[in-house]
Amino acid sequence: MTSRVGTVAFQGVEAVAVDVQAQFIGGQVLFQVVGLGDKAIAESRERVRSALHAIGLALPGKRLVVNLSPADLPKEGSHYDLPIALAVLSALGVIPPDFLDRYVVMGELALDGSLLPVSGALPAAMAANARDLGLICPKASGSEAAWAGDDIDILAPENLIQLINHVKGTQVLTRPKPHLAIIESKLPDLSDIKGQEAAKRALEVAAAGGHHMIMVGPPGAGKSMLAQRLPSILPPMDAREMLDISMIASLGGELKDGQLTRRRPFRAPHHSASMPALVGGGLRAKPGEMALAHHGVLFLDELPEFQPRVLEALRQPMESGEAVVARANYHITYPARFQLITAMNPCKCGMAGEPGHTCRQGPRCAADYQQRISGPLLDRMDLQIELSAVRATDLILPSPKEKSADVAIRVAKARAIQLQRFAEMGHPDLRVNAQADGDVLEAITVLDAAGMTLIRDAADAMNLSARGYHRVLRVARTIADLDGSANISRLHLAEALSYRQKPAGLRQAA
Ligand SMILES: Nc1ncnc2c1ncn2[C@@H]1O[C@H](COP(=O)(O)OP(=O)(O)OP(=O)(O)O)[C@@H](O)[C@H]1O
Ligand SMILES: [Mg+2]
Repeated sequence: MTSRVGTVAFQGVEAVAVDVQAQFIGGQVLFQVVGLGDKAIAESRERVRSALHAIGLALPGKRLVVNLSPADLPKEGSHYDLPIALAVLSALGVIPPDFLDRYVVMGELALDGSLLPVSGALPAAMAANARDLGLICPKASGSEAAWAGDDIDILAPENLIQLINHVKGTQVLTRPKPHLAIIESKLPDLSDIKGQEAAKRALEVAAAGGHHMIMVGPPGAGKSMLAQRLPSILPPMDAREMLDISMIASLGGELKDGQLTRRRPFRAPHHSASMPALVGGGLRAKPGEMALAHHGVLFLDELPEFQPRVLEALRQPMESGEAVVARANYHITYPARFQLITAMNPCKCGMAGEPGHTCRQGPRCAADYQQRISGPLLDRMDLQIELSAVRATDLILPSPKEKSADVAIRVAKARAIQLQRFAEMGHPDLRVNAQADGDVLEAITVLDAAGMTLIRDAADAMNLSARGYHRVLRVARTIADLDGSANISRLHLAEALSYRQKPAGLRQAA
């Protein structure tokens, strides 16, 4: 008789149903796993055998075949241990098959039969819920899975014995509870930054409309400081956003103790980051930094130091909101609607353009450095701002009175206006102006005659691309929203245009 246990394979955030079938047949004593599994799955034989031995069960002297179906779907990861073990236990008659029919199963086994946490428990639980099934997962993954819904049946045993006892009715497993992380760590505050008022204003606009931003300036001007303070002015995520990003974090194994948080992700990969680290993929398909920054911020400090190939890989996701990982014979798509914040020096020595400074290599110093940033990438930056070095007179002043919390209130108001506007227009999937496109963008950025003249003249004078033109409109809409104004005035447009003027520190960029 063939026993069956349901589990899942991950393709991006999608959990595809996989059937684990086990059967004892006559012939040579052998334990075989077939069905396009990776090395971790091939090795699961040994873990399952040892775990069963640890609970006092020896496999009969027959040939045991385990098939992972559909056979042509590549399967990766260690979460197949538990479904394989349960299929074998069912084939041995230890667990009744009708009990297992009601669950999706995932978990890694240790040699002593205890269950180790696995990544992806949340998307697996969501998939199980959609199919009206429960989930059996390791205890450590239980609280994360519990977020999938109140009505889903979740069994989260610590080891195989607990699960078998539960099936037999000698021990009852309680349903794990979902935990919301208590945010203890305080975020760095904007009031630490002295001077740099223009840059702070640009940061506020970026936060309000979800716009991409590039900051150029000499070392020690406060670029990294500013970027690190962006999370402190961003509004917390709503339940939907939290679940979206937690599914990705769950797949990346990044949910600490299975706790979810409302704080937006802020990802700041080092400039040595590789393509798979940023886009996703690698040996085992995992979400990259772009996907992990979904609904939050991707901060690339020292932008020109990143590999050019990695930077170009940003271009498509910046517009589509999706990171696509190409595998040998299929594609995986991760949602990646991030806000890109970047910082750089104007040249290798960092001081080009500063009064009284001449680079030792002359103008080539800035030209060579800036050419590492491609034109199309720069074109996608809505806000391009230049910071000058902070003067000692600014530094000795007392800290500014305005705190991050004050700015956060204005940002939250502007975001609420945008949410409501998009909802009224029948686009509840859009959240910030940066995501508006096509007809929607046209409808929300109606200009008066004076505004029309201004943007037409400016577009000609500044040689704006079509993309640049639309990006100016989006930023102007955000500035008007921050102002609480329904119409975009000339003033709003002029401010938006000022963020598009290539700063001197970027004139020589490609
Ligand atoms: N506007 C400012 N107000 C107060 N302190 C500042 C300011 N700007 C810089 N500093 C001080 O200088 C330090 C360096 O700032 P930061 O790392 O943000 O510079 P940066 O512009 O990123 O430089 P680099 O180009 O070298 O990365 C900060 O830790 C802080 O002590
Ligand atoms: Mg820095």
